[in-house]
Amino acid sequence: MNIAATVWWQAGTIYQIYPRSFQDANGDGIGDLTGIIGRLPYLTRLGVDAIWLSPIFPSPMADFGYDISDYIGIDPIFGTSADFDALVAAAHGQRLKLILDLVPNHTSDQHPWFLESRGSRDNPKRDWYIWRDPKPDGSAPNNWMSEFGGSAWQFDDATGQYYYHAFLDKQPDLNWRNPEVRHAIYEVMRFWLRRGVDGFRVDVIWHLIKDGEFRDNPVNPNFNAGRPPHEAVLTLHSADQPEVQEVVAEMRRVVDEFDDRVLIGEVYLPVERLVAYYGKDLSGANLPFNFALLSAPWNAREIAALIDRYEQALPLGAWPNWVLGNHDRPRVASRVGAAQARVAAMLLLTLRGTPTLYYGDEIGMRQVAIPAERVQDPFEKNVPGIGVGRDGCRTPMQWGATDNAGFTSGEPWLPLADDFATDNAAAFASDPHSILSLYVKLIDLRKHTLELVFGDYVPLQTAGDVLAYLRVYDGRALLVALNFSSEATSMHVEGEGGEIALTTELDRRGENVSGVLELRGNEGVIVRLR
Ligand code: GLC
Repeated sequence: MNIAATVWWQAGTIYQIYPRSFQDANGDGIGDLTGIIGRLPYLTRLGVDAIWLSPIFPSPMADFGYDISDYIGIDPIFGTSADFDALVAAAHGQRLKLILDLVPNHTSDQHPWFLESRGSRDNPKRDWYIWRDPKPDGSAPNNWMSEFGGSAWQFDDATGQYYYHAFLDKQPDLNWRNPEVRHAIYEVMRFWLRRGVDGFRVDVIWHLIKDGEFRDNPVNPNFNAGRPPHEAVLTLHSADQPEVQEVVAEMRRVVDEFDDRVLIGEVYLPVERLVAYYGKDLSGANLPFNFALLSAPWNAREIAALIDRYEQALPLGAWPNWVLGNHDRPRVASRVGAAQARVAAMLLLTLRGTPTLYYGDEIGMRQVAIPAERVQDPFEKNVPGIGVGRDGCRTPMQWGATDNAGFTSGEPWLPLADDFATDNAAAFASDPHSILSLYVKLIDLRKHTLELVFGDYVPLQTAGDVLAYLRVYDGRALLVALNFSSEATSMHVEGEGGEIALTTELDRRGENVSGVLELRGNEGVIVRLR
């Protein structure tokens, strides 16, 4: 089998770009499309196959693009429509697929649809959003909470009703029970698919349909005060409703009107619920994002258990996927530490399923502490001081040791990490032992190794804090052994042993392994078995 000839979103690696922070070309301190175009060669050298861009559409930026005021334009901050076409052409010219962010759950409150909808109770677009009468005492229709703090209902004086917003009050939720809304968003999808995009990552796809009767959510018995306020109630009635699967399947049919595209869903749910988003007979999302690694306690036992749980929950024929970081969660290098970030890289690139990599993680970028006066994230502004802020994982890409790390000639919209003079893409590209070099090698190995792409996942019993598994394809196997501890250890290798193909320290290549595999502290090793 020729890996390159198989389905790209199964065999390939996806790289998420947060456009505000990737590369600024016009000196306004905010990344843009022209900046991204200039950095495509870096991505092809890294070896990724697809880029997913967080939203680039016109937006008041209350939630940095996740509040869209025009689904089919490009925000001037990021460039022009022509820049977008240039990006599609340049990406495709370098054999990179381009995935856009689709944000169908809510619009900006400045979107013309919402301006019409709030205009009067009998406006034809009234029912495009979720409007409800107050309770007799004037209070909100139910106890649903906004994910960014406070009630999810905003009273509108002019028309005397509340509208629902799962996120900011500036992000009113569309009413996905209304067929006109569905049609309008499907047309948006077709618009971009015709423009050449290779698929969508669908924002909060499990939120699209809410309970038809708007019943109160149950109180969360395990809530504790240090947690974000919205966790005080469970989302039993406000998200993950059975009817949402119909919508996901409809979106998939739209994507399938075009050749070779992908539908990815953002879904934060326990694994057993998550896999429902593959849809009946796999008619749903191609890849419901699997975020299990984002919050897992970092030790071999927990990670082994979650992999098993995921593998077992997958429907027959469903293609798995793994995510190590994104623009909403703390950086992996800060969660697990610099040494284990290498182990995490080896894990991500050797598990069964499509890996998604977050920009900067390939150079070990860390969470940056943001001084109070520079906080941008509305979540942190609404719910300060308990660590929910997302700015720290959205700081500018560290390209080089020059001013502002080569990100901008202006004032960067978020502060840069103070380690950028040493920890940057240019320095790491010329260091054969850097984490970047490790990522390049891992991605390359995956690209050329059928076992890593299509092989079965076979967990091995180990002692101590070691996670070990085989990837087996057509009678050939690779052994992956990951030491989650800083202590040296060893494991028994059955059979005829093999030869080391790669280690997290980028040494020991070709070393013979038989009987026992020695592992240094924080070391991951890939062995090609005989
Ligand atoms: C998704 C996005 C997040 C955004 C939220 C509301 O979770 O990833 O960044 O704030 O949706 O759109």
